[in-house]
Amino acid sequence: MTEIVVTDADGLRTIRIARPDKKNALTRAMYAAMGDALREASTTPSIRAVLITGGAECFTSGNDVGDFKARGDQAVEVPSPARDFLAALRQCPKPVVAAVAGYAVGIGTTLLLHCDFVYAAENAVFRMPFVDLGLCPEGGSSLLVAQRGGQLLANELLMMAEAFTPATALRAGIVTTVVPTGDLLATAEAVARKLAAKPPGALATTKRLLRQAEEARLSAHMTEEFARFGALLRGPEAAEAVAAFQEKRKPDFTRFLATE
Ligand code: COA
Repeated sequence: MTEIVVTDADGLRTIRIARPDKKNALTRAMYAAMGDALREASTTPSIRAVLITGGAECFTSGNDVGDFKARGDQAVEVPSPARDFLAALRQCPKPVVAAVAGYAVGIGTTLLLHCDFVYAAENAVFRMPFVDLGLCPEGGSSLLVAQRGGQLLANELLMMAEAFTPATALRAGIVTTVVPTGDLLATAEAVARKLAAKPPGALATTKRLLRQAEEARLSAHMTEEFARFGALLRGPEAAEAVAAFQEKRKPDFTRFLATE
């Protein structure tokens, strides 16, 4: 797996997404590799912090749209490595830092909601385009964005589904801080290294306490999101959206009727 590069140095595990010709779009194999890297980090005492990055140009354009099509073509839900990856991220007891430059689309934005520190470069572009793909939000975003940024901002980001700036991501509670693009990786790495030097037991307990009150609610919400996302992915609206992306044309949703 050359598209996910995992390196360990001085207690810090760095997981780098490296598929630049496809804007770091995530395939099933890439999610599986990232999930493995996180699970191993969780249980390896010498790894004390994790950094997730797509490098200096692009974080990730989200789920590989071709993989969406393959999943949508199945008659029933198939195992989802994306879901397993998000579970591994949420369950990681070590601090997780993300460094975001360029595009962070779809799960590229929603995975950030489960990191502990998120540094965004000034050139970062966020988007949760689920509705425009005939899908619904995933990764807890329909709960967490409203909780952190308020209902009206969540409506705007998840129903309009347009690209938004690092300043808006800050307002939505998706990023910790925005830094000059050239400083991104050094800033995120410095924070991750500081975290790696802290007492690991105290840090793990603090992380658990910070999250546990909301855990059951978030877990139930994510289960519903994934079920609805899977059903929509097998439906005609997503088929039209994916075909339009692949054919490089505008989608036409005029023939569809609301079913909720
Ligand atoms: N899945 C598969 N391929 C993708 C991809 C994705 N999510 N995102 C980009 N690519 C591919 C493009 O098809 C293109 O491939 P090609 O060179 O073989 O034609 C290549 O990566 C470069 O993308 P391009 O669209 O030319 O780059 P851009 O800078 O103009 O735009 C994005 C970048 C991210 C805005 C745009 O690619 C995009 O909207 N991608 C889809 C994002 C998406 O809907 N993700 C799913 C989220 S749920």
